[in-house]
Formats: sequence, structure tokens, C-alpha cells
Amino acid sequence: MEIIIQENAERAARMTAKLIADAVREKPTLVLGLATGGTMEKVYEFLAEFHAKDSLDFSRVVTFNLDEYVGLPAEDPRSYRYYMEEHLFRHVNIKPENTHLPDGTASDLKSECQRYEELIKSSGGVDLQLLGVGRSGHIGFNEPLSALRSRTRATTLSPVTIEQNQIYFGESAMPSRAITVGVGTILESRRCLMLALGKQKAAVVAKALEGPISSMISASALQLHPHCTVIVDEEAAADLKEKEYYRLIFKTEPDWEAYR
Ligand code: GLP
Repeated sequence: MEIIIQENAERAARMTAKLIADAVREKPTLVLGLATGGTMEKVYEFLAEFHAKDSLDFSRVVTFNLDEYVGLPAEDPRSYRYYMEEHLFRHVNIKPENTHLPDGTASDLKSECQRYEELIKSSGGVDLQLLGVGRSGHIGFNEPLSALRSRTRATTLSPVTIEQNQIYFGESAMPSRAITVGVGTILESRRCLMLALGKQKAAVVAKALEGPISSMISASALQLHPHCTVIVDEEAAADLKEKEYYRLIFKTEPDWEAYR
């Protein structure tokens, strides 16, 4: 695992976007796993900017989002499909048919999850998986108790997640369930790239990166991944014990020269 501490949220989001852009340039047919949430908004803004100014080409990129709320159709402004259209898809030259999210309105959720897993597989698997982390420790919507080998399925959102995401639903009740790719599915991606920002993530970041691997904190499963890069800002890094060592690695390793 590589842990990179950037001085602020802007720089952390820019570096995340740069790593994605480099991956797209290296493999124009990249299969890219995408995440939603407030954290990713800036990353998508940078990607849209790289497309507009530096001709970053998404025409052959294929995307798979991690999750979608059960019961929300694509046209609902609170759905993740809507979020993705708003924040990324309509700003770049990605082909609509190459963008995938689970269908939260499917009448048979089990077959929908199966279909999604099979589609990822038949697309060659995810090359680069972008991840945020929820305060419950979730990646995607893999809430506490999610098996480390879990696959795409419908889950019940935890009280912590409902409290965290209720702001996007105002007065109305938010969905209590979501479809999420599994922890096991995420671990099969060739590379994982996690971004966490702000002091409200400090505790969960420390648990996920330096704590024991546990199904109670799904993000801790990333410790098992052979190529996982985690980017945090100073605030999200606040509770990490080995900060100085991570800084030294970033300063010393030649791989990071272009990103310092
Ligand atoms: C959301 C999504 C996750 C996201 C996480 C963090 O609910 N299901 O994919 O990474 O929670 O959200 P935020 O960036 O708003 O803190």
C-alpha cells in the first residue's frame, strides 16, 4: 500500500485526477471503476478540465460505478447515475453506452447484481478502481459485516451512513438500501486508488490503513490489495501514526517524481 499525504484537499484531488488521466493515456481502453460522494466532485472537475484543455480522451474508456441506491431511477437528482452525468459524463467525450451503474430500480435485485458482476468480468475486469471511504468504514456501500470476499449485492445502509448522506435528501427520507459491488469484487481490480479528505475522515482512515483487517471496516480490506494507492489531505491524515515514514517514501521513491 502507498499512502500519500498532500497538504490540502485541492492538491490531493488533483493528484488523484492526474493518476487517472495517466492511466487513461497509457491505456485508452481503460476499464475505470468510479465512486461518488462529495470527495469525488473535485476529482471529476479536474478530469473535465484535463479533457477540455489537454484533450484527455475518454472515447474508448469504459466505466463501472461502485453503487446505486435501491429505488432511485436515473432521472432522480439524488441517484448516483444523475450525479455521474452531472459531475463527469456530460463534461467529457465518454460514450453513454460505455458507462455502467447498477440499476437500483430493477424488480429482481439479485439478477441485477449478477448481471453487473458478469458485465464487469466480460469487460475484462476493472483496471483502476477509484474509491472514497464512508465514516462507517465502507468502500462502495460495503457496510460493517460485509464479508471480505463479498460480491455485488443489495445491502442495508448503516445508521452512520444514513446520518452522513441524509444531507443529500433534505427533508425526505433517504433510501435504506443500495446495490454495491462487493469487497471481493473491488479487490479483484488491478489497481485501487482511494481518496479521503477532511478531518471527519481522520478516525476511519487511521482504522482502515493502520488498524487490523476487519469486515467491520471494509476499507481495511485494501491492505490485502497488491497495488493500492491512498491519497489523503493533512486533515484526513491527522490520526495516522506513521505519517513521517509515508512522507519519506513519497519524497524518495522515483515513481512519485511527477506527482510531488
Ligand atoms: C458514499 C458512497 C461511497 C463514497 C462514500 C464517501 O455514500 N457510497 O462510494 O465513497 O460514501 O462519501 P463522501 O465523499 O461524501 O464523504
